[in-house]
Amino acid sequence: MSTTTIQEIAEATQESYTIKDLVDFSDRHYGDWRDEFHKNGCAVIKNVISPEKAKYYCDKQVQWLKNFELGFDENDESTWTAEHLPVSFKGGMYFAYGSTHEKMAWEARSEPAVIDIFEKLWETKELLCSFDGLNISLPRRKDLNWSPWPHCDQNPNRKGMQAVQGLLNFAPNGPKDGGLMLMKGSAKLFDEFFAQKRDAYDHEDAPPPELKYMDLFLFHQKDLKWFEERGCELVKINMEPGDFVLWDSRTMHYACLPEGDQIRHVQYVCMTPKRFATDKALELKKQCFENYMGTTHWPHCNIRPAAEKPLRNGEVCPKYRTEPFEKPELTDSVLKLAGVKAY
Ligand SMILES: [Fe+2]
Repeated sequence: MSTTTIQEIAEATQESYTIKDLVDFSDRHYGDWRDEFHKNGCAVIKNVISPEKAKYYCDKQVQWLKNFELGFDENDESTWTAEHLPVSFKGGMYFAYGSTHEKMAWEARSEPAVIDIFEKLWETKELLCSFDGLNISLPRRKDLNWSPWPHCDQNPNRKGMQAVQGLLNFAPNGPKDGGLMLMKGSAKLFDEFFAQKRDAYDHEDAPPPELKYMDLFLFHQKDLKWFEERGCELVKINMEPGDFVLWDSRTMHYACLPEGDQIRHVQYVCMTPKRFATDKALELKKQCFENYMGTTHWPHCNIRPAAEKPLRNGEVCPKYRTEPFEKPELTDSVLKLAGVKAY
């Protein structure tokens, strides 16, 4: 199926901002991380995978950068520049080159303890996973023009908790190592904030409107104050290798670049109940899966096939590819999370 056809199906799938089976968690008390998650809109879950396994993923990600044969050497800082790296977003997020379907990405998504987090959260074993990117951020890059980009990944027209994002962290990530900034408590104020008309900030890195991201809103600096005045707190999430962080997609957040010595290694993983998806969305997801195309952070809707070619100096990157270097193993778990196989 051609990219254009897949995009046409995608446009037709943008049906509505409501979902058929929104879960109300207001009366739940669990006695574990879920209580904190529902209170603050975010939670860190420790030791989801072992430090050894986390190291395995770091090595895989480094090898992935080297597979492009652009001269990147993890031990030679002079090669930590754009010309030696595949094209990324905000200095380290990779969505193109079939990266969202690399074997290592699917291995991380189907880690039993990762699936368990989302099963507990949504109280179902029938889940879908996003075909989301990875993040490899090299510290002290001199060739980057970086600025904070506080945003949320839920359209203001969607009400309630419709998606939850997460990331599996592979490398030590302390205060100087960049990483996830979260406006703790902001998910609960989402409807109040958007009750009045709000203009999205026209950030220099914002995707052009014709790309129709749908579930992305960029905040102004003054909006941070609005949330802080209502008791929210902007926090940097520090993590150890193997930790996982979850956040409600209504939460204001962004990722900082590392300033210390440590390379940041992360796989984004988002899961939602399969019953949230329409048949059309599942069909589209299947097409994306079979064609190694990425999606947004949303597992069950807004299945927007990531078909844009990475641009290098205004031209399509010569290393552009549409398939992963290492194809995923098509296990039962992978096929179910991809929405391809029935539960
Ligand atoms: Fe985001």
